[in-house]
Amino acid sequence: MSAINYSERIPNNVDLANDRKLQRALEQWQPSFLGWWGEMGPSDFAQSDVYLRTAISVDAQGWAHYGAVKMPEYRWGIFLADAVADRKIGFGDQMGQPAWHQVPGEYRSTLRRLIVTQGDTEPASVEQQRLLGHTCPSLYDLRNLFQINVEEGRHLWAMVYLLHAYFGRDGREEAEELLARHSGDKDKPRILSTFNEPVQDWLSLYCFTYFTDRDGKYQLKSLAESAFDPLSRTCRFMLTEEAHHMFVGETGLGRVVKRTLEAMKELGTDDPARIRAHGAVDLPLLQRYLNFWCSSSLDLFGSEISSNSAANFASGLKGRPDESQYPDHVLRESTLDIDTPEGAKQVPALNALNETMRESYLKDCEIGLKRWNRSIERAGHAFRLTLPSKRFRRSIGSWVNQPVDPQGNLLPREEYDTRLREWIPSDDDRAFVRSLMQKVIAPGKMAGWIAAPDRGINNLPIDYEYVRLQ
Ligand SMILES: [Fe+2]
Ligand SMILES: [Fe+2]
Repeated sequence: MSAINYSERIPNNVDLANDRKLQRALEQWQPSFLGWWGEMGPSDFAQSDVYLRTAISVDAQGWAHYGAVKMPEYRWGIFLADAVADRKIGFGDQMGQPAWHQVPGEYRSTLRRLIVTQGDTEPASVEQQRLLGHTCPSLYDLRNLFQINVEEGRHLWAMVYLLHAYFGRDGREEAEELLARHSGDKDKPRILSTFNEPVQDWLSLYCFTYFTDRDGKYQLKSLAESAFDPLSRTCRFMLTEEAHHMFVGETGLGRVVKRTLEAMKELGTDDPARIRAHGAVDLPLLQRYLNFWCSSSLDLFGSEISSNSAANFASGLKGRPDESQYPDHVLRESTLDIDTPEGAKQVPALNALNETMRESYLKDCEIGLKRWNRSIERAGHAFRLTLPSKRFRRSIGSWVNQPVDPQGNLLPREEYDTRLREWIPSDDDRAFVRSLMQKVIAPGKMAGWIAAPDRGINNLPIDYEYVRLQ
């Protein structure tokens, strides 16, 4: 089952050839997808040979197969993780019953909405990143960007497959809409606000892949628990690809810190102005980028108190990430204290699932910070990078529009309004970062604001020509 049939127009391991109607429908969607890629995907580089990984099977041996590919010729397809025999529902009111292989009528619209919302983020991120190739800090980074882009394109395929295969005409219409909405579009924006934020520089890209792709990881993990088995299997395979996106974010930001520490040592100062004049990113500037992208990504988990999430959990549509780690999978008895501006509020744990997810997400976000802070400490500096409080700059939930600083303190409104620019990137910050964004394409060379990676891709040297430009 895990082998992927590459002889077909749409590579797949779902035996598409035996479902002519579905195959035809997806083959009709394919040119629209390719048209979208040409128009909204990476600007230029269509003729370049990119050292990409493509899955040839979904098992450990085959899912990471490397070779030079022109991006428009990438074999986007439909890959599901292998089925678990006799899989049972692992949480909610129907726990222990067999997983579903079809969509139960009563959950049809909710499930479709969950799939569309996840699906919408995938092409959105490609659109957000489409101009970055022109300012890549190295060929190694350029290749990583394109790897992420083609995989997000495949994640769109993954969701479109589910829509076409299980949701009839409504699903086909939703699949069209996924190509009609665009990131930042005034009339037809993407569904979630973080995916309408422009990603115009590589510092933003590393923050995006660190924070926003990590939200993706948590969403996929909770959908991988779903009672709807095709969704679970789809998300399980997407997670293997997603790990690389977060790797790009974590190592990218780590390399920025490393280069900044070198500059501080060369200059013998931590004065931001002098570090900038030296062509590196000062740590307070990096902190403002972290504040911006972390707070924006925290909103993606939704309101602290949510009856929708409660219903989705109770009915088995969406679990918690790594559901098996929790002792209670039904949550009909327990409560949780939620932090609100009016004080702690006790709510049923079932209604606090968004907050449970946000908490475990934030813990995961801490890992990189610890590592970067260790290197700052080793270099003898007192500065520490931190994650902003989850109360900071929220545009959804109990803390929406509250004047809170990154440490979580409530401030008088005027003080907040004047000081906000200290906490998130100012126009000057963004202009400075843009000024650093000069394309570096000699193999093995790095832009001056970022250190070289520790190693290359797939055991190749760092100076390998990861993208052959033409
Ligand atoms: Fe994705
Ligand atoms: Fe991703």
